[in-house]
Amino acid sequence: MQLYITKELQIAVDAAKARYIASNARSKALHEEAVNVLPGGNTRTILHTDPFPIYIKHGKSYQVTSEDGITYIDMAGEFTAALYGHSNPVILSAMNDVLQNVGMNVGATTAQERLFANEICKRFQLERLRFTNSGTEANLHALAAARKFTSKRKVVTFSGGYHGAVLTFSGGKPASNNVDMDDWIVVKYNDLDAAKEAIRSPGVAAVLVEGMQGANGCICGTLEFLHGIQQASSEVGVLFILDEVMTSRISEGGLAALRGLKPDLKTFGKYLGGGLAFGAFGGRADVMAAFDPRLDGYISHSGTFNNNTLVTHVGHVGLTTVFTPEVARHFTEAGDSFREKLNEVTNGTRIYFTGVGTVATAHFLAKGPRHIDCADNVEEIPELKTLFWFEMLEAGFWVTLRGFIALILETPPSELERFVKAVKSFISKHQTLVALET
Ligand SMILES: Cc1ncc(COP(=O)(O)O)c(C=O)c1O
Ligand SMILES: *[C@@H]1O[C@H](CO)[C@@H](O)[C@H](O)[C@H]1NC(C)=O
Ligand SMILES: *[C@@H]1O[C@H](CO)[C@@H](O)[C@H](O)[C@H]1NC(C)=O
Repeated sequence: MQLYITKELQIAVDAAKARYIASNARSKALHEEAVNVLPGGNTRTILHTDPFPIYIKHGKSYQVTSEDGITYIDMAGEFTAALYGHSNPVILSAMNDVLQNVGMNVGATTAQERLFANEICKRFQLERLRFTNSGTEANLHALAAARKFTSKRKVVTFSGGYHGAVLTFSGGKPASNNVDMDDWIVVKYNDLDAAKEAIRSPGVAAVLVEGMQGANGCICGTLEFLHGIQQASSEVGVLFILDEVMTSRISEGGLAALRGLKPDLKTFGKYLGGGLAFGAFGGRADVMAAFDPRLDGYISHSGTFNNNTLVTHVGHVGLTTVFTPEVARHFTEAGDSFREKLNEVTNGTRIYFTGVGTVATAHFLAKGPRHIDCADNVEEIPELKTLFWFEMLEAGFWVTLRGFIALILETPPSELERFVKAVKSFISKHQTLVALET
C-alpha cells in the first residue's frame, strides 16, 4: 500500500494530538490506571484510540459529557444502538416501571415476550422470532438454523463484512478469532458474479450479508447485487440471511423493506432493545422450527438473559410509542438530507460520506472518483481521518475515529447544521490537505 502522508499532514496531526492530550488530562489519568486491570485499558476494541480514549462521564439526551468536563453533541450514537438518546423520558419511565413493578429475573416465561416478539415480527415481516443478548449471537443462531434446515455447513459472506465479535471478515478472510474457520466462502462485496458462483458451489447452507456494510464504512449494496443474491440463493435452496443489526432503523421495516427484499432470515440488535443489550433473529416459520422444543431433534437455544424483562418491556415501548413507522420515515429523510448536505460541502475534496438514512461514514480518499461500492477497491488516508477526528472533537462533536456517524432521534436540526459548518471549516483550514486531484 502506498503511503499518502505528507510532511504538512504529519505536522497538523501532531499538533492536534498535543492539543488533545492537553485538554483531556483526567481521561489520560484514568486510562493509565485502567491498563493495570484491562488489557490496553479496554474492554471493547473499537473504543480504543491513540494516545488514550476520552472517558465519558454521562450522557443526556443527544449529548455526552467527558470526565474532563467537556460536553459534546453525540454523533456516534453508540454505533446505532443509541437511537433513543441517553435519557428519553418514555424509555426511562418504562425502565423504572420494570424495576419497581415487574422485577428483573422473575424465573419464568412472561407474557411480555410475546408482545415484544409480535411487534418486531409485524414491523419486519417475520413469521417467527427468537431473542438473544447481542447481534453476534443472533447471527450465530441464525446460521445454526440454516445449517439444520439445509443439512449443509458452508456460508457465503463478504469481504469487509461484520456480523459480530467472532464473525468478522475484513481484508477478504475470516478473522483469526472467528468461529467455523473452514466453513466460510468470502467474496468481494457488490461483486454479483462472484457471489453467484459461490452460492452455487457445493455444500452451501446460507449466504450472510449486510444490506449496507456498516462497520466497513457504510458501503451500500446495490439493488442489483442484493436482489441477485436473493434470486441465486432461492434457485439452489441456499438460505438468504440479511443482517439488519445496523440497518433495521432505516425504514419502518428496515433495509429489506426499503430495498424490496424478502430474506429467509433476518438478524437484529442495537437500538431495538431500547438501549439495553439486545439481539434477535427470525423469519420463515419452517426454518425457525429448528428451535421448537416440542419437536424431535430441535436445537437448544439458551441464554440466561434472552427473555430479560427489562429489554422486553423497554424495547416494546420504544418501538410502539417512540420509533413509530412515521418517525422512522422522517428520521431517514432527515439523515439522507444531512448526508447530501455533507457531500455538497465536501464536493471536490477527499472527504466523502457514504451511508443510508441516519447512518453514515466519512471517507478520506487517496484519489478519486468520489464513489465507493467495494471498500477493497479504495485507498484512504488514515492520518487525514485521524486529523478530522481530533478537530471535530475540538469543535464539540463526539465522533468515532473511523468516521462512523449514527444520528440520535432527539438531536436538533440546528446541531446537524452546525456539524456541516464544522466540516466546512475543516476544509477551509486544510485546503491543500483535502484537495482531491482527479
Ligand atoms: C451488521 C452487524 N452485525 C452484527 C453486529 C454484532 O452485534 P453485537 O455487537 O450486538 O454483538 C454488529 C455490531 O456492530 C453489526 O454492525
Ligand atoms: C427467562 O425465562 C426462564 C424460564 O423460561 C426463567 O427461568 C428466567 O428467569 C427468565 N430470565 C429472565 C432474565 O427473566
Ligand atoms: C459536485 O461537483 C460536480 C462538478 O462541479 C457536480 O457535477 C456534482 O453534481 C456535485 N455533486 C454534489 C453532491 O454537489
